[in-house]
Amino acid sequence: MSHLFQTYARWDITPERAQGSWLTGHNGKRYLDFTAGIGVLNLGHRPREVEQAIQDQLGLYWHTSNLFQQPLQENLADVLSFYSGLDCAFFCNSGAEANEAAIKLAKKATGRKKILSCLQSFHGRTYATMGATGQEKVRTGYGPMLDAFDYVAFNDCEDLLRKADNDTAAILIEIIQGEGGIHCADSTFIQTVKDAAKAVGALIIIDEVQTGIGRTGKPFAFQHYDLSPDIITVAKGLANGLPIGAMLGKKELAPYFSAGSHGSTFGGNPISVAAAQSVLNIALQDDFLMEVEKKGKWLLNALDASMKECGDVIEIRGLGLMVGIEMVYEVKDVLLDLQKEGLLVLNAGPNVIRLLPPLNVSESELEYAVTIMAERLNGG
Ligand SMILES: Cc1ncc(COP(=O)(O)O)c(C=O)c1O
Repeated sequence: MSHLFQTYARWDITPERAQGSWLTGHNGKRYLDFTAGIGVLNLGHRPREVEQAIQDQLGLYWHTSNLFQQPLQENLADVLSFYSGLDCAFFCNSGAEANEAAIKLAKKATGRKKILSCLQSFHGRTYATMGATGQEKVRTGYGPMLDAFDYVAFNDCEDLLRKADNDTAAILIEIIQGEGGIHCADSTFIQTVKDAAKAVGALIIIDEVQTGIGRTGKPFAFQHYDLSPDIITVAKGLANGLPIGAMLGKKELAPYFSAGSHGSTFGGNPISVAAAQSVLNIALQDDFLMEVEKKGKWLLNALDASMKECGDVIEIRGLGLMVGIEMVYEVKDVLLDLQKEGLLVLNAGPNVIRLLPPLNVSESELEYAVTIMAERLNGG
């Protein structure tokens, strides 16, 4: 028997090595990897600069604890602050931990109980973030949840205005619901989030765990809107595969996260931080982001054009290189068929095929993926 808890429904592929957009299985089969480690490998597998930064740091020190001065964390916080417009960073190890920190900080800073999040959202699997997650299937069997969360239908302005009140500490949203099926926030909904937060004195928390670090063609997805969140959370793409998360907040919140109020043994560990610094040097440059935007538009257009005759496609949508294809049927088998053809993609819920290619994917790789998908989907 396997001595692992079987918490993952794994594919029948054992990775042997990987480089760029390509992964090779143990049987020598090569796959074009449009899962990118579930939105993590924004620069593809083993980008040279990041690998070098990791190796350089390995030769200096790996871990010291947060009792010591951390100049690498200071530098990374400076860069994140520059690109996000937020002032302070707290480093942790994952998206759930970043959201956990955001929830704690919002409650402490406001002295209020309630966090409003959205139905179909995903914010993680710790107790607080599982509670924040608006999907019953994630919470099943683990009740009772923390008594802190209420849910608003995504893009439903009236529902939000009805539920935001003087006990609301924060409104927590994803700009694009990733796990929930690649649904983009309407600009009217974002405006309502701003209005509601202002009216009741609540904070705005944007979960950028999946959308951040250039995925949508901007450093952070909230920057597509006229929005100035109080807190954002990032993880996934930040260190291109090494574990790290970050919560970024406005300086007015800093007094509530004073010494001893929150922490993590591994949070901001030097290897992950060195990797993150070299990722940001590449992924947040204007010319790189313009390419992401251009490739994203090309991908949406090419998918639309090649599948316009396919009656089973409900909608093709997304922003930058975060794209969903909603089908009339469940896509589990489609994923397996595409794997046979050498293309790895994800689902987002039962009916949506989710594409999260590396952000430095080449045009020919995009073309190749579109061809394989069109053949499978048009074939029924
Ligand atoms: C939007 C969002 N928030 C939070 C998380 C949780 O991140 P992690 O798995 O690193 O805890 C995820 C993971 O998919 C996510 O997509």
